[in-house]
Amino acid sequence: MSNQAENLAALVPAAKAELVVEKRPIPTPGPDEVLVRNHFIGLNPLDWKRQLSGMFISSYPAILGTDSSGIVESVGSNVTKFKPGDRVLGGADGMISQKPENASYQTYTIFRATSTSKLPSNISLEQAATLTTATITSYLMLFHVLGLPKPELKTPPPNATVLIWGGASTVGNLAIQFAKAAGLNVYAIASKKNHEYLRSLGAKLLFDYHSDTVVEDAVAAAEREGKPIAYVADTITSVATLGSVQDILSKSTATVKNVAHTAPWPEDFKKLDGINADMVHGEEVWYKPDMIELGSKVFNEDLPKWLESGVIVPPPYRVVEGGVGKIQDALKVLQAGVSNQKVVVGV
Ligand SMILES: NC(=O)c1ccc[n+]([C@@H]2O[C@H](COP(=O)([O-])OP(=O)(O)OC[C@H]3O[C@@H](n4cnc5c(N)ncnc54)[C@H](OP(=O)(O)O)[C@@H]3O)[C@@H](O)[C@H]2O)c1
Repeated sequence: MSNQAENLAALVPAAKAELVVEKRPIPTPGPDEVLVRNHFIGLNPLDWKRQLSGMFISSYPAILGTDSSGIVESVGSNVTKFKPGDRVLGGADGMISQKPENASYQTYTIFRATSTSKLPSNISLEQAATLTTATITSYLMLFHVLGLPKPELKTPPPNATVLIWGGASTVGNLAIQFAKAAGLNVYAIASKKNHEYLRSLGAKLLFDYHSDTVVEDAVAAAEREGKPIAYVADTITSVATLGSVQDILSKSTATVKNVAHTAPWPEDFKKLDGINADMVHGEEVWYKPDMIELGSKVFNEDLPKWLESGVIVPPPYRVVEGGVGKIQDALKVLQAGVSNQKVVVGV
């Protein structure tokens, strides 16, 4: 890591182009913002999808990336919850605000204070970079889209099973833990090699999506327990996964049949009667007033406590060292497909 105060950014210079590194000014935070010197950048599938498709990019050059962890450099005039020197993670809103300084693929990033979390001492900066997007997405899937009772309400959980399809994705890792914390009966779908780990996070029963009987096996197990599958968080969201998910809910005797998905419902793909399905929109915490408030509660208040108490543990990860110049290679690793592993880049 360089000690020089310079801001190196990995820019997308033009539509679909590979990232190039350029020096940019170190930005100044606005009144409700925090400037962070990044130490680790967390990569998300959305980043390479934006690079290749141009979605959420209004002009070039553009800077990608939402997640990173580091040290607070300075804070805006209204910010009271953070101070220079704090160890934090953040979620940068550049895909919505279109401000290049609000993106994580650079040395210094501006975050809204409402999307920043102070890190407890048991969490390293490396671990922290894995968390932002996966935390808010999984939280919203369960407690906003699926309408399950939040853990802190301590309400008795419904007599039903929640199924996390794609438990070994980073969103799935967090979803299993939140569902467990809410007292739910949790099943997860993942490759067999990840079952033991996901069981340690709180999944009671696991099923392999490579099995021809995955649908029947999951339904039968839940019916035997007297807790039919009523809620599904499909973290993968393809015609194949949604097809299996709808099959499961059609065979389930549950009266409620709710699905949260992470990508748009595929065009021309039939939504079956009796199934309520909605997409999660993690980015809403940057522009919808009620969601900004919810995001602020999660990031400013809850996440530090969950991490300190071990209610939430960060997903497994691999670190790619070498700074922002290594992000393009690391993105290709992510795009090629990872298994139960977040990719973070050290800067
Ligand atoms: N809408 C939003 O707000 C939002 C926010 C965040 C992410 N997302 C989207 O959510 C998706 C997940 O993101 P992520 O970062 O968590 O992904 P990720 O960690 O890169 O996901 C990799 C995992 O996907 C699993 N997988 C692949 N195909 C599967 C299948 N057919 N069935 C079950 N599991 C399968 C693999 O499991 P095994 O190793 O066990 O095979 C692998 O561990 C991405 O498409 C992302 O763009 C949307």
